Amino acid sequence: MGERILTGIKPTGQLTLGNYIAVLKNLRKMMDRGECFIFIADLHALTLPIEPETLRQNSIDLAAFYLAAGLDPERSALFLQSSISAHAELNAIMQNYLYMGELSRMTQFKDKSSRMKENAIGLGLFSYPVLMACDIVLYDANTVPVGEDQVQHIELTRDLVNRFNNRYGKILTVPKASVTKVGKRIMSLSNPLTKMSKSDPKGDIFLKDEPMVIRKKIMSAVTDTGSEVKFDAVNKPGISNLLSIYCAMKDITIKEAEKLFVGYRYGEFKKVVADVVIEELAPFQERYRKILADKSYETALKEGAEKASKIANETLKRVKKAVGLLTID
Ligand code: TYM
Repeated sequence: MGERILTGIKPTGQLTLGNYIAVLKNLRKMMDRGECFIFIADLHALTLPIEPETLRQNSIDLAAFYLAAGLDPERSALFLQSSISAHAELNAIMQNYLYMGELSRMTQFKDKSSRMKENAIGLGLFSYPVLMACDIVLYDANTVPVGEDQVQHIELTRDLVNRFNNRYGKILTVPKASVTKVGKRIMSLSNPLTKMSKSDPKGDIFLKDEPMVIRKKIMSAVTDTGSEVKFDAVNKPGISNLLSIYCAMKDITIKEAEKLFVGYRYGEFKKVVADVVIEELAPFQERYRKILADKSYETALKEGAEKASKIANETLKRVKKAVGLLTID
C-alpha cells in the first residue's frame, strides 16, 4: 500500500500559527505524497467545555481554513469526525485495549486536568487518546503529520496497534508521526517558554489576525539579552522561536537563516519575520474569506464524508470480526 496520510485539528478556540506550520502549510505536499484523510476533530472538541454555537462556527472556519491552505477535495477526503459514526463505534471497542495507567501518564491530560477540579474533568478528556487512536487506525494511516505535542499520543497508538495485532493477527496498520524539522513546537510570543496554544491573545498569532495585528504581535515579541540573531533554545528562547517561525515559513534550515541575519539587530530581524508571516497569511486569509462566502466547504465535507466512511466502515468490520462480534450482512 502507498502512503496513507491522516491528520486532524480540534475546532476549539482560534487557530494559531502553530497549527498552520504543523499542518496547514504542508497540505499541498502531503497530497503529492499520498492519499490524504484530513478531518475536523469535533468530538475531541467536546472534551473541554465549549458553547454549541462556538463549536459549530469553529468547525466551519476550520473547513474553510483547510481549503484555503490548498486542500483539494478531489484528491483527498475532508470530513467531520462526528459525521463518520465508525469513529465512535471503534472507540467503544478500543477503549478496552488501552489502560488507565498509560492514559494517566499522557502529558496533555496531566496539563489540562491539573488546572481543573477533579469532578469537572470529563471521562472524555482522560480517554482522549483512545478516540485519537481510532481516528488514525480506521484509515490504515501510516503517516500522521503533527506538531511535537501530539507525538506522545501517536506513540500510544502504535502501542495499541501492536498490542491488538499480537492478540488478533495483523488487523491494523502501525502509524508513524511525521513532525516538521523546524517549527515542530512554536512558542508563545509573550512567553517563549510555553507553547503557542489557542488561548493567549497576546502571545499567539491567530490565523484570523489582521496583518497590522500580526506585525504588532511580532514586533513586541519577548526577546532575550544579547544582540545576536542565533538559535539557542536555552539562553535565547525568544529569538530561537522567531527563527523557527521564519525558517518554517520560508522552508529553510536554521543554519541558513542564521547566515542571513548576521549583523541584524533584533528590531530589524523582527521586521523581516513579520513581513514573511504577513506575506504568506494575507493571501491565505483572502482565500479563506472567499470560501466562507461561497460555502464550498459544504460540498467538500459531504463528499469527503462519503469517501472516508467507506474506508472507515471496512476497518470497523474487520475489527469487529477479529474480536468476535457477530456481524450479519
Ligand atoms: P490541535 O487541534 O491541538 O492542534 C492541531 C495541530 O497543530 C499542532 N500544534 C502545534 N505545532 C507546533 N507548534 C505549536 N505551538 C502547536 N500547537 C498545535 C498539533 O500538534 C497538531 O498537529 N489531538 C489533536 C487533534 C487530533 C488528531 C487526531 C491529530 C485528533 N485526532 C488524529 C492527528 C491524528 C489536537 O488536539 O490537535
